[in-house]
Amino acid sequence: MLEAVERQIGHFVADLDDKTTTLLYAKLPAGKRLRAKLILKIAGNSLQAIKVAAIVELIHAASLLHDDVIDDAFTRRNKPSLNAIYGNKTAIMLGDILYSKGFFELNNISAKVAKIVSNAVTQLSLGELADVELSKNFNPNKELYLKMIYQKTASLMEAAAGAGANLVGKDEDAYMRYGRNLGIAFQMIDDILDITQDSATLGKPALHDFKEGKTTLPYIYLYEALDSEDKAKLISLHGKTLKQDEEAWIKSKFQEYNIIQQSYQEAKELVQEAIELMSAKGEESLSAIAMAMIERDF
Ligand code: FPP
Ligand code: MG
Repeated sequence: MLEAVERQIGHFVADLDDKTTTLLYAKLPAGKRLRAKLILKIAGNSLQAIKVAAIVELIHAASLLHDDVIDDAFTRRNKPSLNAIYGNKTAIMLGDILYSKGFFELNNISAKVAKIVSNAVTQLSLGELADVELSKNFNPNKELYLKMIYQKTASLMEAAAGAGANLVGKDEDAYMRYGRNLGIAFQMIDDILDITQDSATLGKPALHDFKEGKTTLPYIYLYEALDSEDKAKLISLHGKTLKQDEEAWIKSKFQEYNIIQQSYQEAKELVQEAIELMSAKGEESLSAIAMAMIERDF
């Protein structure tokens, strides 16, 4: 049924009646469409559900266009990012076009769904700002990290699940909690993969996040584990282009203190709770989506 969402996004883009936008949109890789999948699994494949899924994917695509400009990222899903090919101005404007079209279409759904989704977009933006601010210094505070990834990533998954539940009169709270846990775990795992996967698989250089100033969960746990001399050394490497021996030092410390397993365990617990929530409702395919998330490559 994801093809129906793809077609609906195509209709929304075609409505804009602008050749440049159509051409640029066609250059974006579709991605996993995880948020659309959640909505259809929860709400079925009515036209309303397909439209909400298409709207949420338009908003998600817009947020990634802006994020790649903010992060100076030249690749997205192993391909050159739109800002790398056409420059920042074009990427920002395409993001604004997709985002505002999504909002326009949201008005045709219902006030409650519009409220759930638009609130998530505010959270996304607050989360992205917090990410930028937190990246200016080494951040040892786990609570700040958790709040930021909830806002930046989990809020839109939470809203996707909540909007889906609202469309068919299911228990919004439980589905939103599922989406929230899934989203936080998803970002934690993304942050772990930045450390464990080689640069070819990842499509970006190894330990990229830390060089960019992002103190993700494994770095916070590593900081907690190190003695004061090594704490100072870790802080001194934050936000820098790392030499080979510095990169090797960080990786050896991750191993010594079992940090990747500790971080992965935290993501796993959130996923476990999400699975239990959905199993209790007989939503086996939603449990399976959660399960697949922790079975990704390490
Ligand atoms: C990716 O994080 C970024 C997000 C999930 C959210 C970005 C949100 C905004 C830019 C604000 C919302 C704006 C609009 C127009 C809706 P990341 O950089 O950690 O992940 P990555 O590795 O995928 O780049
Ligand atoms: Mg980014």
